[in-house]
Formats: sequence, structure tokens, C-alpha cells
Amino acid sequence: MGSRLSRRQFVGSTAALSLSALIPRGFASTNSTQKFVVRADSEIGIVKPEFHSHFAEHLGSCVYGGLWVGKKSPIANIEGYRKQAIDYLKELGIPVLRWPGGCFADDYHWRDGIGPVEARPKRVNIHWGGYVEDGSFGTHEFVRLCRLLGAEPYLAGNVGSGSPRELREWVEYCNMPSGSTLAEERAKNGSPEPFRVRYWGVGNENWGCGGDMRAETYARLYRQFSVYLREYGGTKPFLVACGPGGPDRQWTRGFMDSLDERLPDGYSMHYYVGGADQPTGYTADHVSAQLANFKKVEDAIAEQRAMLDGYRDGRKIGLILDEWGVWDKIPQADEQHYGKLWQQSTVRSAVAAGLGLNIFNRLADKLFMCNIAQIVNVLQSLLLTDGPEGQSCVRTTTYYAFALFKPHRSKTAVRVESQDSSPLAVSVSASKAENEIVLSFVNPKHDADVEIDCAFPGSNPKSVKAQILHDTDWNAYNSFDNPDRIAPKIHPVTLDGGRLRLDLPRLSVATVSVAIA
Ligand code: AHR
Repeated sequence: MGSRLSRRQFVGSTAALSLSALIPRGFASTNSTQKFVVRADSEIGIVKPEFHSHFAEHLGSCVYGGLWVGKKSPIANIEGYRKQAIDYLKELGIPVLRWPGGCFADDYHWRDGIGPVEARPKRVNIHWGGYVEDGSFGTHEFVRLCRLLGAEPYLAGNVGSGSPRELREWVEYCNMPSGSTLAEERAKNGSPEPFRVRYWGVGNENWGCGGDMRAETYARLYRQFSVYLREYGGTKPFLVACGPGGPDRQWTRGFMDSLDERLPDGYSMHYYVGGADQPTGYTADHVSAQLANFKKVEDAIAEQRAMLDGYRDGRKIGLILDEWGVWDKIPQADEQHYGKLWQQSTVRSAVAAGLGLNIFNRLADKLFMCNIAQIVNVLQSLLLTDGPEGQSCVRTTTYYAFALFKPHRSKTAVRVESQDSSPLAVSVSASKAENEIVLSFVNPKHDADVEIDCAFPGSNPKSVKAQILHDTDWNAYNSFDNPDRIAPKIHPVTLDGGRLRLDLPRLSVATVSVAIA
């Protein structure tokens, strides 16, 4: 959880040093103009669509009342799923969806969520307020949701209060095509077809809510559990081990040193960026403080990657930013009305999302997947509903920031030189395909508009178009009365002698598509 994040800071970005060395001499800045050079031949790696993945936990009104309203609900639904949510999420494209937690995962017993709904046991959600859940949203409902969204399911298994046998049987239940008792049970419950779930989390935050373990204890359990998590019907499980909360070197060192040969396929790091104010009441200083902290996320990813790479075959482990986003001071009244950790998403949140998504492009060679927390009604969500009973469902500013980054998916990230790498400098990333370069610029300053001047040596820009997400009020948001107040708009951009120029207002996110001759 947010309060457990380490406050240690890691100074010195080697990336920053090498970039400034690359800026040509005489490439001086003015107060309002920021210069960039796109090096289209300097490839970083593919922008995996999985960088834009998501997380849904049994927490507040994320699942119950958010994604799942039940078949008999007066709220418009498709087979019990909130129709508006499905429509919006499908339109955006959800590469991977992780479920059922979070902290909830290590207290979830999958058998509680299969079979006839009336017979499912009612359980207390001990982590998120002690309310009783009826288990009506279980494995079948989750996989069906993923199919409706076109998302890959990612199941987080229970290590903290579960057993190797329980998790092993969940894998078999999901993936064994036929013939075994568990496969027959799945068929009897409505799915003769195996679910073919590839991604499996082996615990969650086992240094905290997932059992409060030392790294060495968790490593021993990881080794034990992983022995029993096998391939069925050609679906080889991709096992994700619990990694650090924030930039915790000690956890990674302790875990990796205790593993020997049995390396995980993925390693899950969580990094929330806290905030000092309520979501819609940020002061200027606190906006800057929160946004400047994204530099630490970038440094922590690079550092964790380097640590893994230092182990034999460590390079093969996919680093996953499994939970990320801003975690503000949530008003109690909002939680009571809308659900636990229901957090409004403002212009500031969109800028934070843009900073994160730019980091993923720049570190495309270091990351495997990134899941923002969470998809609906919890923390930095993509959609907000008017509480679990509410008919209204809006796309947040964060949804629209993700929409602006969609054109980067599956393109090749390339390096962009910038003259300023300070934490509140304009953030940039670029990716290329055969005839196009896509750039995203984020201005995290609340008090300075910037003019962007960007060169493309070696490329021949032909035409250019841009979209921007911005509002003059950083506390502004998409309300149920004014749901599209902050949405992407066409933004003026020009090509001047092959250089791109656009005005980037304070606290904005812009994506520019450059057609290349
Ligand atoms: O996303 C909310 C919580 O944050 C998750 O349950 C946990 O993994 C993290 O601490």
C-alpha cells in the first residue's frame, strides 16, 4: 500500500548525462522555447501494447458496481457487465487485465468464485473495509470480461494464505483442455474450452499485505510454488514473482540471491506516486512536488532492470510495473459515497499519466508490461461511475491520456535528445513505423507555457497533426454533469523547414503524428 513506499532517492541519471552530451553545440535554450532532436535511427525497443495494461481488484466499487452490476441490474449491462464501461474500454483497447488483487489476491480462494452463484460462500473482504462479498464475480466471470474486452487475462495467485496445491489446481482448472476432474468441473460450470490463461502472479506484495515476509522467505515459497505450476494443453504459464514496492533494492537483492536456478518469467514492481492534497484541491507547490516524483519512477525502473541483469540469465526476466499511478489524499466523504479509494482524476492526473507513459516508451527495452491502478473507480482509474448503484460512467482525464498514447503501440521507440532533463522539464518520447513518427510531449510545469521546436535529422517530415489534453485549471475533471470537459482536441502544429513547432501550454499532454516522406 502507498504508505509503505520507501522514501529513498536514487540520484544521477546516466541517461540524462548522455543526452546532454549529444545536444549539438550552439543548441542553446531560451526561456520559452524547448528544443528537441529526434534520432529516428537510434532505436530503443518495441512499445509493447502491454505497457498500456490494467488492474482490477475486489476493492470498493471497482469490480462490484463498477465493471460488474449483475444481470438483473437496472443499469444497462451486457450479461451483467456494465455496458458503458465495456464500450469505453473496448474502444481504448485493453491489452492485459490483472485480477483479483492487489492485497485481495492473497486472501482469495478461487473455489469461492465458481459453480452456481447461489451456492457460492459469502466472504469478508478483510483488506478493504470488511464488507461481505457474495462471490458472484469469479474466474468464469473474469475470463468472460476479458474476452468481451479483447484483453489477455492475468490471474494473481494466493501465496500469503493459500497453498501450492490450491494455486496448482487453479492453473489446471483454467488450462487443462479436458479429461481431468478439474477440466470436467470447468466444463460443467459452463466452459468446455480451456481458458488458456498465460499470466500468473505468484503472490502480491508479499513484503506487506501478502504475508509480511522477508525476501528470503518469499523466495523459498516462490521456489516451492513454482514447482507445481505447470503447462496444460500447450499453455505455458508465465510466472510473475513479487518484486519491490518502490525503489527497494534490498528486496530484489534478497529475493534474487535466494533463488538459484528457478528464475521467474516476470518480476512485479509496484510504484505509486503519493500526493499531499485531495484530488481536486491541489496547491501549485503540491502539483509540482507530485509530478517531479515521476523522475524517481524512471530511475527506479532503470535501477531494478540493471539489478536483474546482473544475475545469470536475469536479463530473461520481464520487469513488470504491476501497479502504478498517483495516490492522492482521498476524502472520506467520497469513499463513503462512491466506494473505497474512489479518486477523482484531474488535469494533473492526466499529466501524471502522460509522464508515466512517456517513461515506458523511453524505457521500452527495460519493461515487459505496466498495469495502471486501477481500471474503474479505484485510484488513478480510467473510468468513474457514480458509485456502485449509479447509472453514470465517465471517461476520466487519465482515460484520455491513454487514448493519446495509443498511436505508439507496437511502434519502435526511438531516442529524442532534449536540452533539459530536470524533473519538471518537458517530457518527451517518440516511436516510429515505416512512414510515421509519433511524438508525445508532456509539460508538467504549472506556471510556464513552452514552445516546442523539434528537428528530425535524417528523416523527411511531410505533414504533421497534433492533439492535446489541457485545461487552464489543473483541478478540473470530467464530472457526471460535464463528462467531456477535458478530452483530446485538435491542436495547431506546423512544419517549418522540416522542424516541428507547437505551443505546449502549462500542464498539458500532446501527441503529434509526423508523416515521413
Ligand atoms: O491498488 C491498491 C493496493 O495497492 C493493492 O491492493 C496493493 O497491491 C497495493 O498496496
